[in-house]
Amino acid sequence: MSLILVTDDGPIRTVRMNRPDKKNALTTPMYEAMAAAIEERREGLRCLLIAGGETGFCAGNDIGEFLQMAQGGGALGGPTSRFLHVLARCQTPMVAAVSGAAVGVGTTMLLHCDHVVAASDARLSTPFTALGLLPEAASTLIAPRLMGRARAFELLVMGHPLSAEQAKAAGIVNTVVAPHELEQAALAAAREIAALPPDAVRVARTLLRGSPDEIVARIDAEGTAFKERLASPEAKAAFKAFLERKR
Ligand code: COA
Repeated sequence: MSLILVTDDGPIRTVRMNRPDKKNALTTPMYEAMAAAIEERREGLRCLLIAGGETGFCAGNDIGEFLQMAQGGGALGGPTSRFLHVLARCQTPMVAAVSGAAVGVGTTMLLHCDHVVAASDARLSTPFTALGLLPEAASTLIAPRLMGRARAFELLVMGHPLSAEQAKAAGIVNTVVAPHELEQAALAAAREIAALPPDAVRVARTLLRGSPDEIVARIDAEGTAFKERLASPEAKAAFKAFLERKR
């Protein structure tokens, strides 16, 4: 079974992370597949729906891969950067359906989405600094704009998680629904957007999102610092602690 499931239904493409045994932790091939599915221009495509599954939305980058990168000299994968660039430059409206854990990039990718529907059990967290890392995906630029610098610091640097309702109050999430209603509610939002005049949506969305070049530049600046942090003793110790933890 593919780790990323891509399904087209009329004007809507669903991109679903599908690594349930690892809570949808993202590996290099998953970033590659998601980037390709988001980037591809299909005639008639009007909205992308990004979803997880029954075991949650996404547990962030695969920590085993982080450790491999750290031990191999700290090179951050090109596919990760490409995925983030594709999010920043995506010209199709993106809706996200979030349930359970959304960790690290599982949360920061939401900042690029145009509409986020969360199940009441969703929990957004970014334990970057606890892992010896720093926030990525231009979250240091977008999150303060969305929620103010004080709340962005609490989320991104102090690592305090947000419940679905708190994420809504912070401006990251639009709607909170019961877990069993999530898929339908997210699909309804995608259909609503897809039914609008596409050229009008494109112009409005472009102005709302601001310069993609600025966002890409921040992704790259964070990426440079991230590479250094990946190779740090703090990060290596944190990755090993997670992988060797006793449960
Ligand atoms: N990388 C690699 N494996 C991961 C992972 C990740 N980011 N997140 C979860 N997994 C694996 C676990 O090691 C476990 O594997 P195992 O069954 O082979 O032991 C499996 O997924 C299930 O995870 P588990 O921790 O048992 O589930 P949970 O429901 O108790 O907790 C999370 C879910 C997401 C809260 C927890 O797994 C977690 O904190 N993961 C790390 C998140 C993280 O720090 N990501 C990086 C952010 S930069």
